[in-house]
Amino acid sequence: MSGAVDRDAATAQAQALRADALAGLAGTPKTLPCKWLYDAEGCRLFEAITRLPEYYPTRTEMRILEESGAAIAEAIGPGAAVVEFGPGDGAKAVQLLGTLQAPAAYLPVDIAAEWLEAAAGRVSAAFPGLRVRPVVADFTLPFDLAGRAAGSTTHLGFFPGSTIGNFEPQEAVAFLRRARASLRPGARMLLGADLVKSAAILEAAYDDAAGVTAAFDLNLLARLDREAGADFDLAAFRHEARWNVELERIEMHLVARHAQSVLVAGHRFRFGAGESIHTESSHKYRPDRLRALAESAGWRPARMWTDPEQLFSVWLLEA
Ligand code: AVJ
Repeated sequence: MSGAVDRDAATAQAQALRADALAGLAGTPKTLPCKWLYDAEGCRLFEAITRLPEYYPTRTEMRILEESGAAIAEAIGPGAAVVEFGPGDGAKAVQLLGTLQAPAAYLPVDIAAEWLEAAAGRVSAAFPGLRVRPVVADFTLPFDLAGRAAGSTTHLGFFPGSTIGNFEPQEAVAFLRRARASLRPGARMLLGADLVKSAAILEAAYDDAAGVTAAFDLNLLARLDREAGADFDLAAFRHEARWNVELERIEMHLVARHAQSVLVAGHRFRFGAGESIHTESSHKYRPDRLRALAESAGWRPARMWTDPEQLFSVWLLEA
């Protein structure tokens, strides 16, 4: 990629951030899209979240992949080409590829080329003989895998981490339907989904004692200050995690500690005391609801694995 292309991409991204911020803050209630949480600092803070004692999803999913690894490998069979949607640091792929029987290839798909290289590098280092083909694409849109995996291998989509939960349910259906269209006919999908559980466990997982999740959420305002000409005072907002019982989702909010007005890219936004910006929803699923969601996207749920406490679920879907 040339320097000019990098700069154009950065400019387009800054414009998209501004446009999203202006639209989201003009709404009632005020919202900001969660994808903007993940700048370099946000990624660093998210990594720290995954190691917190209260944040059970990452380690629980990893444990399921380990402890049910033999059963998962048996159900999938030999020779699958693993297509991972948003590979992160590649750690879960290393775990999965280590248990699968003779995987044919690893195809990580992500819009962020740097992350993709990191994940591909980690997997290549762990499995030197494996065919690794990174795909730079926005996996929330249709993309083309033609020619990326050898011959007649079957595709195994891999979407861990309960990232599915950050979509609204109807967006999750649309994503699963598009994923099916991007993969080969006869493909399967290994999907991680966080389960409904007590509000106490959920609220602690999204508002930890060390304040890492609060810093992750507040970094969004710092980012708007840095990149979108905003003048948010971070000390004037506090992070809150709310379990929405009706919608079965944990919501992250940034709550104004007092009435104030904030300038964003030349536009003034007023906040009442206690008014919030909704920054993320993390939907939790009951098994029946996840099953219905997959079916309405044209997938057949074949197997589900969980941990002894039933905190998290890993699903095998068939197209
Ligand atoms: C992006 C799905 C892995 O929703 O649990 C963690 C993001 N937000 N703590 C989630 C997140 C606050 C996370 N995932």
